[in-house]
Amino acid sequence: MTQRVLYPGTFDPITNGHADLVRRAAAVFDEVVVAVASDTFKVPLFPLVKRVELARMIFAGLRNVEVTGFEGLTVAYAEKRGIRLILRGLRAVSDFEFEFQLATMNRRIDSELETVFLTPDEQYSFISSSLVREIARLGGDVSQFVHPSVAEALSQQIAILQAPVRSPGAR
Ligand code: COA
Repeated sequence: MTQRVLYPGTFDPITNGHADLVRRAAAVFDEVVVAVASDTFKVPLFPLVKRVELARMIFAGLRNVEVTGFEGLTVAYAEKRGIRLILRGLRAVSDFEFEFQLATMNRRIDSELETVFLTPDEQYSFISSSLVREIARLGGDVSQFVHPSVAEALSQQIAILQAPVRSPGAR
């Protein structure tokens, strides 16, 4: 039986830690579906289409990894794709409480769904998307935490957001 796993996340943006986790999963499972959520707890910096594009570019060389965006509940999307396993990463003990809650809630909604956890390499255990966004916003170098294309996309997106807004009649 083909073992497929769904890795949902906001991926705002995808970091080297996420990429490490996906590569580990691709070596363990037959197929990994990286599912970029439209409906997330967060207000993302990047639109969904850009978050998907960046993740697709990073995993282009992995034949058993698919990247897709999705709307609505993770459990509903997993069911639609016929996937029974959800993958999440645990970087540190502090991740456990939220992940335990998420996994339990998802299983309460759909009792056939199980969540499995992998841990990224310890060199990535301190990386988080929000810290990367914050460093980029303040002009810091994020090249050791994200793919060069993600770093480039971050500086472009931040420049757009920080550009002064001109009123219609202003010269
Ligand atoms: N390496 C580095 N960082 C990692 C990581 C890893 N291996 N794994 C997680 N992280 C970090 C991320 O950078 C991110 O950091 P941040 O919070 O500082 O931005 C954080 O841990 C988790 O982000 P991410 O991996 O993108 O997932 P998420 O927690 O944002 O995902 C969803 C949440 C998408 C799974 C959840 O909102 C969801 O299921 N949404 C769909 C709607 C739904 O079903 N809602 C009901 C849920 S019960």
